[in-house]
Amino acid sequence: MNRWTHFLTSVVFMSASALSICSAEEQGALSRPNSACAACHGPGGSHPATPETPRLAGQEYDYLVQALGQYRSGARENPIMGAMAKSLSNTQIQTLARYFSSQPGLTTKY
Ligand code: HEC
Repeated sequence: MNRWTHFLTSVVFMSASALSICSAEEQGALSRPNSACAACHGPGGSHPATPETPRLAGQEYDYLVQALGQYRSGARENPIMGAMAKSLSNTQIQTLARYFSSQPGLTTKY
């Protein structure tokens, strides 16, 4: 295998793993909770990409479980999060909630 082939193989491999994060929600959510959510909520849920995107880092576990369950059922309506939560299992929701609630959140400023 020459260097060029090796390079191509790495690119294909990297693209394949990036795709699997998007398509295999289950795998992404369970093995790397951050991966599917970081694009908008930021690494560890602590640097949201837009002002409309809430910070998840340090949020209460129960709150996160409830919010994701409501997006999934449609009780809380949001086109983006509804689509994100639609395919999550209870276990995945709990795993995500545990992950984000254990991240360092905001501290008191005064
Ligand atoms: C494409 C951008 C995007 C992605 C990807 C995304 N979110 Fe969100 N998320 C948002 C936006 C925007 C809101 C605010 C929606 C609203 O107003 O209800 C939100 C809201 C939330 C909330 C409610 C927080 C609160 O304070 O009420 C939770 C929990 C949440 N997202 C978790 C997740 C998880 C877990 C993932 C990954 C599986 C994820 N999000 C992926 C954009 C995104």
